[in-house]
Amino acid sequence: MRVITTISELKEAIQAEKSQQNTIGFVPTMGYLHEGHRALLKKARQENQIVVLSIFVNPLQFGPNEDLETYPRDFEQDQKVAGEEGVDIIFYPSVTEMYPNELSVTMTVNKRTDVLCGESRPGHFDGVVAVVTKLFHLVQPDKAYFGKKDAQQLAIIDGLVNDYNFPLQIVPVDTVREHDGLAKSSRNVYLTEKERAEAPALYSSLLMAVDLIKAGEDNPESIVNAITDRIKTETSGEIDYISILTYPGLENMEIIKGRYIIALAVKFTKARLIDNVILVEE
Ligand code: PAJ
Repeated sequence: MRVITTISELKEAIQAEKSQQNTIGFVPTMGYLHEGHRALLKKARQENQIVVLSIFVNPLQFGPNEDLETYPRDFEQDQKVAGEEGVDIIFYPSVTEMYPNELSVTMTVNKRTDVLCGESRPGHFDGVVAVVTKLFHLVQPDKAYFGKKDAQQLAIIDGLVNDYNFPLQIVPVDTVREHDGLAKSSRNVYLTEKERAEAPALYSSLLMAVDLIKAGEDNPESIVNAITDRIKTETSGEIDYISILTYPGLENMEIIKGRYIIALAVKFTKARLIDNVILVEE
């Protein structure tokens, strides 16, 4: 396994793999790797000759009052995880390596940003598509792996790849959860003990919603109200949003039909958690 910190060295390494016709699977992350990231790496390992992992906490996607400074980091442990998952190259650039100058051209996401995390994190997805574009150009992967946990990010990146004809395939990966249902997240370490005990209510309320829909409830508002009640009763968190939208279009729906997502975000003292389920209702 090679750790590469500069763009010039990465370009050389990728060129060498390309000249041998090796297929490249790419897993972009911000590090502090957990089982969710491992699932992406495992899939990439199965499907490609070379696996490239990037670890870069991208300042462009953090708002002024967000957790850029305190975002958890542990490069040594990440290297260990990467080794165990059979990664060939870790790309671990500094901020100045990635952004030596202020960008002269920026990107704006036009669709799917006025809902869910896009609404509460203005500019966030512009920063995500900027870094992902740069990384795609550098790594030139055949396949890139993204988690369904960040379902809005996945839908937006799908849009980016389709709009701009990136020559690669986006592979979605199911959300990996703790035994009690809490979605694995680098930010879970910032929950207090009490909040950690409450947090499984996010997923259980989504499962309850699915049961209600399967039992015949097709009004999004009623479902959102039921989830709201449950989260208010079972957690001390502050609800950021609870929404039911079409997927991957992320548009409002009058009645629940077709492919849809139920997504939520809840703010705890030091961590804002998100979760979702994506389903089809005939
Ligand atoms: P990060 O939050 O580190 O996540 C990296 C990848 O891991 C994303 O595709 C995310 O959806 C996936 N992931 C996170 N938790 C998961 C879980 N519990 N189950 C399955 N997959 C999970 O997302 C980012 O970084 C950044 O926005 C990035 C795409 C790297 C751009 O900076």
